[in-house]
Amino acid sequence: MDYFEAVTKRRSIRKYTDEKIPEEVMQKAFDAAILAPNSSNTQTWDFYWVKSEENKKKLVEYCLSQSAARTAQELVVITCNPSNWKRSQKPLIHWVESVNAPKMVQTYYKKLIPYTYRWGLLNSWGYLKAVMTTAAGLVRPVPRGPNTLAELQMVAVKSAALAAENFVLAISAQGFSTCMMEGFDERRVKKLLKLPCSARAVMVISIGRESDRATWGPQFRLPKSDVLHIV
Ligand SMILES: Cc1cc2nc3c(=O)[nH]c(=O)nc-3n(C[C@H](O)[C@H](O)[C@H](O)COP(=O)(O)O)c2cc1C
Repeated sequence: MDYFEAVTKRRSIRKYTDEKIPEEVMQKAFDAAILAPNSSNTQTWDFYWVKSEENKKKLVEYCLSQSAARTAQELVVITCNPSNWKRSQKPLIHWVESVNAPKMVQTYYKKLIPYTYRWGLLNSWGYLKAVMTTAAGLVRPVPRGPNTLAELQMVAVKSAALAAENFVLAISAQGFSTCMMEGFDERRVKKLLKLPCSARAVMVISIGRESDRATWGPQFRLPKSDVLHIV
């Protein structure tokens, strides 16, 4: 299936059949997910494939027992955590050195990333960064953030959402269906997965074979002219 076919075939499916998903279909989708572009290549995401019956039952409940979760064959939670920059820092520095990346890029990973990915106790460092940034911004264009934990989480959530899209398109390309869900109790999901405070549970994705009457109707979008602005 080509890219445009996978994109147009993908719908949010709320009712699945009992058909099992082959392991390789899932693994291919995870492979596609981790190839998504992500901020500074820090790869602050994680993917939880919830397989145990006990955990699955709890996750369905935390997804408010919505049918997209209840009838799913597989459930995946995509999470992110700005603190994960530490996990990728050493391999990234090794990589930029081994490919002989420009000095500026090496400095970026050695100095700027550790500077950026810190927020301090009660965002103290984040607010100080914001003041310095605002002052510098008076005389020249500067990146205005991320400064606080919430801003760093937003950066990490953007990357995780791109991974989620790669994941669902890879499932679609292999003939199965998905539904992305943010309708869940994040606090309970975080507890289930034993996630630290700074992490976010970005999306629960259900996977299965589409059943009959699995959508609410044909796909609806506003006309392109309403949302595309040529400026
Ligand atoms: C971030 C996000 C959260 C969503 N949460 C839910 C959800 O909790 N339950 C659900 O049934 N659909 C959910 N959806 C699916 C949307 O409702 C769906 O994408 C939208 O209605 C367009 O339909 P389509 O995906 O079939 O084109 C979510 C989609 C996204 C991107």
